Amino acid sequence: MNTGDKVSPGRTSDARAELIGMARRNMLHAEAGTIEQADGVVRVPASNYFDERQWQREVDQVFKRVPLMLAMSCELKAAGDFKTLEVCGVPVLLVRDDEQVVRAFINSCSHRGAVVVTEQRGSRTRFSCPYHAWTYDGRGDLVSIYAESDFGEIDKSCHGLTRLPAGERAGMVWVSLDPESTLDLDVFLCGYDQLLAQFDFADWSLFEDRTLKGPNWKIAYDGYLDLYHLPILHRNTFGANMPNQALYDAWGPHQRVSSPDPGLLKLKDSNESDWPTARLLQGVWTIFPHVSIASFDGGGGRGVMVSQLFPGQTPLESYTVQNYVMERLPESDAVRDRAHEQFGLLEMVVRDEDYATGLRQQAALRSRPDAQVLFGRNEAGGQHFHGFIERLLACDSENLSDLFSMNSA
Ligand code: FES
Ligand SMILES: [Fe+2]
Repeated sequence: MNTGDKVSPGRTSDARAELIGMARRNMLHAEAGTIEQADGVVRVPASNYFDERQWQREVDQVFKRVPLMLAMSCELKAAGDFKTLEVCGVPVLLVRDDEQVVRAFINSCSHRGAVVVTEQRGSRTRFSCPYHAWTYDGRGDLVSIYAESDFGEIDKSCHGLTRLPAGERAGMVWVSLDPESTLDLDVFLCGYDQLLAQFDFADWSLFEDRTLKGPNWKIAYDGYLDLYHLPILHRNTFGANMPNQALYDAWGPHQRVSSPDPGLLKLKDSNESDWPTARLLQGVWTIFPHVSIASFDGGGGRGVMVSQLFPGQTPLESYTVQNYVMERLPESDAVRDRAHEQFGLLEMVVRDEDYATGLRQQAALRSRPDAQVLFGRNEAGGQHFHGFIERLLACDSENLSDLFSMNSA
């Protein structure tokens, strides 16, 4: 994976123009009461959601081959800030080094493999292994060996932490779990990061995060691409008056989901340069294969819930880290309380409505192993997602770049 930073002059205005184009298209549909439909109804084998071999292929050929969004940049604001997490069995350490570059490593000591950093977050310039105190710096270089003269001679420069390709775009950090990956991050992102950059996440802050258990990762992910269920499954919480219709925009496998919004029509005859960016960013922004970003009013400013979805130990488990990220952290107790209430509701909705339904759904599907599930012409997002997974599983590692280049917008 190429990790270089990329700044393209003019991209910001291109991205805003693209957002405006999408808003104009949204208005046309909102006025006409129409959506764009896929060509036909697509069928996906039910066993894709629970078959052990299928799931292992997805872990190995999806999660371990493409860059994953593992942190918001604001979680690693200052030099020395670090974060650890485990993804598909790989312990990962993320650190912002003294040159402000975010680096990623397998969090396993080069001596005998112990997990070097056991805290979830913190800030420091040296990382000392809890087993025998071998110590690494923020670049993962081995800087000292405890009782070195007793240990015997080794070349320290060859015994740093194993580096994982990492790159930062749009206020987010992507990491490949494959140390040898040559997939260029910008090829993988297909320009989508230029749109995501319009949020200005680098300047936002993490309010809180929590982890939820859920069903098979694709059952969970389907829900993030699906507005069809909102007024039904969520009718008792937030969904009663929500639209069930969706417009999908894709950049390679990454998709934005928005609903035709009659409220946008108020902007129609005003100067486009005055259109509020927050309005242009409405909806759900998914990042393949495992992230969804949903906007909401954080009770005193803009907020988003960034959900990172990871496969669990078996095909029937996943876990989701919900990160509540706010443009401005609440400054008063009243605003803080409102934000907690808002985030509590979002957690409850996902846990008790989406994932509870998904867990029952996967159990029911296992009782009909030869069945197929359907994605309608109004569910183009799910069609695109499952189609891309299929192409990715069929793609050799040496052709990965071509797969993403071919599918970029
Ligand atoms: S395993 Fe880390 S110092 Fe021994
Ligand atoms: Fe939902």
